[in-house]
Amino acid sequence: MAAFIGIGVLRHMLYRLIFWAAVLLCLSQLLLTLWRSDRPMAMKSSNINTRMILQNMIDFHIARTTTPPYESLLTVEPWVDKLSVQSEKLIMDQVQKRLPNLPVTYWNQNKNKAMFYKNESCAKFPSIYELEFNNVYWQSLQTSNGSFHLYSAYYDVRKLSRIGPAVRILGMINRIEPTVKTHCQFWFDDHKQPVIVKIMEYKYIWYKKWGNYKQGIFQPYLIACQIPKSHHHAVPASVSLVENVCDKATNNLRVVYNRPAVKKGFAVCVKGLDFLYEDLSVRLVEWIELLHILGADKIFFYQLQVHPNISKVLDHYESVGRVHVTPLTLPGGQPNVPGFQHLYLTKKVNHKRQNELIPYNDCLYRNLYSYDYIALLDIDEVIMPIRTRTWKELMETVMVKALAIRNETRASYNVRNVYFLDDLIHTHGWFKTIPKYMHMLQHVYRSKNYTKPNQYVKCFHNPERALTLHNHFPLACLSQGCTSYAMDTADAHLQHYRADCVKTLKKTCTEFRQNSVIDTTIWRYKRDLISRVSNTLSSLGFFPAI
Ligand SMILES: *[C@@H]1O[C@H](CO)[C@@H](O)[C@H](O)[C@H]1NC(C)=O
Ligand SMILES: *[C@@H]1O[C@H](CO)[C@@H](O)[C@H](O)[C@H]1NC(C)=O
Ligand SMILES: *[C@@H]1O[C@H](CO)[C@@H](O)[C@H](O)[C@H]1NC(C)=O
Ligand SMILES: *[C@@H]1O[C@H](CO)[C@@H](O)[C@H](O)[C@H]1NC(C)=O
Ligand SMILES: *[C@@H]1O[C@H](CO)[C@@H](O)[C@H](O)[C@H]1NC(C)=O
Repeated sequence: MAAFIGIGVLRHMLYRLIFWAAVLLCLSQLLLTLWRSDRPMAMKSSNINTRMILQNMIDFHIARTTTPPYESLLTVEPWVDKLSVQSEKLIMDQVQKRLPNLPVTYWNQNKNKAMFYKNESCAKFPSIYELEFNNVYWQSLQTSNGSFHLYSAYYDVRKLSRIGPAVRILGMINRIEPTVKTHCQFWFDDHKQPVIVKIMEYKYIWYKKWGNYKQGIFQPYLIACQIPKSHHHAVPASVSLVENVCDKATNNLRVVYNRPAVKKGFAVCVKGLDFLYEDLSVRLVEWIELLHILGADKIFFYQLQVHPNISKVLDHYESVGRVHVTPLTLPGGQPNVPGFQHLYLTKKVNHKRQNELIPYNDCLYRNLYSYDYIALLDIDEVIMPIRTRTWKELMETVMVKALAIRNETRASYNVRNVYFLDDLIHTHGWFKTIPKYMHMLQHVYRSKNYTKPNQYVKCFHNPERALTLHNHFPLACLSQGCTSYAMDTADAHLQHYRADCVKTLKKTCTEFRQNSVIDTTIWRYKRDLISRVSNTLSSLGFFPAI
């Protein structure tokens, strides 16, 4: 017992000793650092000349910089860019590229002319320096009842559009069912007077049952202005939206009218990319190459924020003309600071969905006359033909079937959604003859069941008939309404590559997991796809030197 107490006391003393030793060590360390950091101060206060201090600093940083000796600093000229002092003309060209919705050319041609309606104080042509911009790409109109942020304007002369030649303006208004009366001021080439009309409609690009149906929240709209008969032969160069006829506009949008001599087959539109942290670059290469093999003529990306590696991929494909990237912001008071915007979009799903409708509809309208079909896809989705090899062949067979049922084209042709979930593979291992970085080629197990007809579908939209688009279906259509042909799953389906089902399908997802089948349709393109992807990755420096 005594021995036991003795050991206890000894141990206690030992702990104390260790404690005080540690305290002493810390103190001495602290003193040492203080003394060291004090040294330059001491040198400064003593009367050593600056030259020596500089020399000392140079010595101190010698490993990191190669500052030349002091004498030569007196004459050295740093390498600044002396070439890029830009002329106004060159700057204007760059501005036009960055702000395609600004009528730069038209304004330059007319800025010195007296252009107005009736007299100097009515509907004066606005200078581009007096417009109200919002979050870089938007132009605003403040009315007596609602703020408008306008994104772009388009000339619509589609045969099926019953309102005749018109300009449609895409933007967001912080009102539901806006009642404020506004006017379009159209500006034409060789006209000093604008043509002014009352707007025809505010077309809401959303269903109120989806939520966010509140005054004060910015809502997507397509605003229509008919062009009067007297001017049916001409395309307006630009348009302004004002409240009263004589108002001097705070916005002036170039009217987009792209009509190439030859229509191409398929355009794909991708909503504002928000992948700042997630480096999906390699998967993006596989997706772009696969879509190209399937027959996408061009992919139109909108970009909020992306990882630098994704930019590298997009820049590459843009330089070879396969993709087009449009930078995008959220209008009004919504956040555009990189990481913060991502959090906002994750937390505010309805706002995210409403904002997405701007790039989707811009993509439709800028390509109105350029493609037979327009598909809105995410970068984890592929419309996969089953019996044919390409989208063109697919649509040829689908059109025969659709026209046999009803002899007219549809507003859209939809494919059923089926999940290729990430973990379906892991129980089966990797395919050894396929590089591991080929995500889609490696993931060939899918759930047996499709999601229900018309749910989570994707479409080939028919730009001759679609008036407004939403992610899955058109929201409004010209002529016969929004007819959609549902493709047989034996002809095509939507391969949806995800880690998990969408949140709303949590319960069904468990069942999907329990019933998986192997589906190797994609392997038809294996050889071509591996070679294209690997060449691109290699040329972009994604592989270590082997
Ligand atoms: C200019 O024209 C408008 C519209 O016709 C008219 O209401 C206004 O009185 C005119 N202003 C002047 C100064 O003449
Ligand atoms: C403002 O517009 C809303 C519809 O967006 C309408 O309900 C309201 O009555 C309008 N207010 C006024 C003062 O006109
Ligand atoms: C289908 O309609 C087109 C014109 O839209 C017509 O030329 C064609 O003959 C019609 N076909 C059938 C089978 O009715
Ligand atoms: C999957 O399909 C089978 C019939 O093939 C059906 O009995 C089952 O309910 C479906 N499951 C789901 C989640 O739709
Ligand atoms: C991708 O990003 C990482 C992290 O910034 C970087 O180390 C790597 O070099 C990038 N890859 C390419 C091909 O630039």
